Amino acid sequence: MDAIVAVDSNWAIGQAGGMLFHLPKDLQYFKRMTLGKTLVMGRATLDSLPGGRPLPGRSSIVLTRDRGFCRQGAQAAHSLNELSDLIDSLPPEQVMLIGGGQLYHALIDCCHTAYVTRVEASAPAADTWFPRLDERPGWALEDRAPIQEDKGLRHQVYIYRNRIVRPLGEILEKL
Ligand SMILES: NC(=O)c1ccc[n+]([C@@H]2O[C@H](COP(=O)([O-])OP(=O)(O)OC[C@H]3O[C@@H](n4cnc5c(N)ncnc54)[C@H](OP(=O)(O)O)[C@@H]3O)[C@@H](O)[C@H]2O)c1
Repeated sequence: MDAIVAVDSNWAIGQAGGMLFHLPKDLQYFKRMTLGKTLVMGRATLDSLPGGRPLPGRSSIVLTRDRGFCRQGAQAAHSLNELSDLIDSLPPEQVMLIGGGQLYHALIDCCHTAYVTRVEASAPAADTWFPRLDERPGWALEDRAPIQEDKGLRHQVYIYRNRIVRPLGEILEKL
């Protein structure tokens, strides 16, 4: 599994259930990076998508403890155990963790690569964050894409690799 995210200069990712920035070029990048893959997301992130609907051209697995959860085009996983059963047979590079805060914090160390769009701005009212990969054991910056600009906001994709990928099963044992 890999992760993809957009963060501000303090690794913030969200505010009041929504995104911090609207960056059309980065959304195009997100689309290119996720099309045809299986997306893993928390229920709050699904709710934040247009119409609360899964994104077209991709499979969606949604983590929720709500046994009554039913959303067309989305498959529910009610625990990390159920998630493990659903993604175990898939090639790791075909599975993309897309958020949000709870899911990134629970699963980031199970990811091989994180595609982090770093936006040169800070969102003071943010209430959700991504793990700070610069300080996280096992993670190292491998590459940076050219700087882009959207509506006056400069942003750049940083590619981080995890040298100590933890199997999902190992995380489950610690819960
Ligand atoms: N900047 C970015 O790239 C980016 C990407 C994605 C999201 N975001 C932002 O992040 C925010 C949402 O993040 P969030 O942390 O509030 O929520 P989240 O991680 O998207 O979803 C949290 C929900 O996931 C379910 N869940 C979590 N752990 C679970 C487990 N072990 N087993 C079963 N279900 C589990 C629960 O759903 P139930 O309550 O239904 O049980 C929980 O309320 C929004 O502001 C969104 O816009 C930003």
